[in-house]
Amino acid sequence: HQKYNKNPLFCKSLRVKLMISNGPSGICLSYLLSGYTPYLSPDASHPNPLLHSKLREQPHLSLLEQDLEYLCEGLEGRSSNPVAVLFDSLLLPDSDFGLEHASPLAWRYEPERATPHLVLGKGPPGGAWHAMEGSMLTLSLANWMELPGLKLKDWMREKRRNVRNDRATPAEIASYYQHYVSQMSLGQSFASRTTVTSHVLPSSPPDGSSVSEEVPFSLLAHSVVLATGTHDIPARLGVEGESLPFVCHSFWELENAISRGELDQSSDPVLVVGAGLTAADAVLAAHHLNTPVYHAFRRSVTDPGLIFNQLPKLLYPEYHKVHQMMTQQQHRPSPAPQDQAGDLLHPSTPFPRHRVVAFRPDRKCVLESDSGQRTVVQVSMALVLIGAHPNLSFLPENGRPLGVNPDEPISCRRNPIEVDPFTCGVVSADGPGMYAMGPLVGENFVRFLKGGALAIACDLKQRSAFWTCSGFAGTEEFSERMNVKLNRPTLM
Ligand SMILES: *[C@@H]1O[C@H](CO)[C@@H](O)[C@H](O)[C@H]1NC(C)=O
Repeated sequence: HQKYNKNPLFCKSLRVKLMISNGPSGICLSYLLSGYTPYLSPDASHPNPLLHSKLREQPHLSLLEQDLEYLCEGLEGRSSNPVAVLFDSLLLPDSDFGLEHASPLAWRYEPERATPHLVLGKGPPGGAWHAMEGSMLTLSLANWMELPGLKLKDWMREKRRNVRNDRATPAEIASYYQHYVSQMSLGQSFASRTTVTSHVLPSSPPDGSSVSEEVPFSLLAHSVVLATGTHDIPARLGVEGESLPFVCHSFWELENAISRGELDQSSDPVLVVGAGLTAADAVLAAHHLNTPVYHAFRRSVTDPGLIFNQLPKLLYPEYHKVHQMMTQQQHRPSPAPQDQAGDLLHPSTPFPRHRVVAFRPDRKCVLESDSGQRTVVQVSMALVLIGAHPNLSFLPENGRPLGVNPDEPISCRRNPIEVDPFTCGVVSADGPGMYAMGPLVGENFVRFLKGGALAIACDLKQRSAFWTCSGFAGTEEFSERMNVKLNRPTLM
C-alpha cells in the first residue's frame, strides 16, 4: 500500500483483534483478552444453587472455556442480554437486593493466554466519559460501574475522604477507568486519539485506509469489535434557527458557559429542551447557579415513559427534585424549593407538552403547546438535549444494514445492531469476526455491558482453533506499541 511504504511492518503470525472505541466496553474486553482469566474460586459459593452446581461441574475450566448458553439457562435479571445477567451475577451476586455477596470468581493472570489486540479511541482510555449515554453514568451505583479486578469503592475511598453515597461523579469514573488501564498494564494495547475512517470487509482489497489526524495507518485484523457507544452525534430538532450560536446541543457547552462565568442569577433564563437525564442535569446545573430555567419537553409529566417516573425517589433525590419542578404549573411557580444548603433558588418554569417551533437571532424562542398555543421566551442560551446517534460513517451505509431494522439508522433504543446473544457476533455481518457491544446493541448500563465483553472473549477463545493468519501493517509507533507481541516481524 503506497501510502504506508515508509516503514510498514507486516507480521504474518499476528492474530490481532481490533476494538473500535476505548470506553468501558473496550477496556473490559481488553482486560479479558490480556490474559486475566476468571475461574470459580475453589471455596466460593454462589447464592443461586443451580448456577452454583453448574459452575462446580468443571471447576478446572475458566469461564472463557465454558458453555455460556448452558450457564445462562434459567437466570433472570434486569438486562435482556442473558450473558450480561450471568456475568453480573458472578461479579456482584445479589446486588439487586442490596446484598454484598462476595464474587465467586477468582481472577488469574495467565499472560500465555493473551490475545493480541488493539483498542482504538478518539480520546484517552475511558476518558471519553462525556461521550457516554448520560444515563449510563448517573443511573448506576458505584459498584455497578466498576470493572473486574479493581474495586471502585476502594479506589474512591483513596481519592476522597468521605464517600457520601454509593454514586460516583462522571469525572471520578473517567479517572477510575484511566487508572484501571494503567494498573492492569493494558496501556500497550490502547491506541488513543485515533479515528477509524473506514472498515472494509476481509474479502475486499484494502483500498480503505484508516486515518488519524496526523499519521495515517491501516490495519488488517481478524476480528473487529464495534464498541463506540451511541453518543457521537447529538440529535437535532430540525427547526429554524437551530444553528444559531446560542443554541447548543451538548451538556458540555453549558458547563463551558458556566466556567466562563456567563450565567448567574441575573442572566436571562436558560431554555432546556428534553426530558431525559442529561436535560435534567442541565436543569440542575442552572438551578445551582440560581439561573432561571425554561424547561420544554414533549411528554406530559405523568407519562409513565418519562424516565423520572421510573426512578426510585430515595436513590435519586436530585432527579426527583427536577421532576417536582416539572410538575409545577407553568405560569404559577410554587414557592422556590430549597437545596441542601438551604439557599432559596429559582425554580424552573416547565413547558410540558411543548415543542420548539423556531429560534430567533435575538435569542427569542418560539414554543408551541399541544393545543397549538404559542409562547415566545427570551433566553440567554438554549440547550437541546434530546439524545444522540452513533457515528458509524466508517461502515457501509453508516452501519444500517447491521440493525434490527436495516432501513433505519442505528440507535440504542429504537434500532440496535442485531447480535447473537451468546457471542455478540453481528448477525448480518458477512461472515464471522465482527462483533458489537454496549449501547450499539441496546445495552445502556456499564453494569451489563461487561457481559458483552465476556461473550466476545469466550467466542474468540473458542473460535481460536480456526484462525489462520492475519496481517498487521502500521506506523513505527504502532509497531512499537505492538512490539511485545510481534514474532520476528518481516519488513517489507
Ligand atoms: C463521523 O466521523 C467521521 C470520522 O470517522 C468524521 O469525519 C465525521 O465528521 C463524523 N460525522 C459527524 C456528523 O460528526
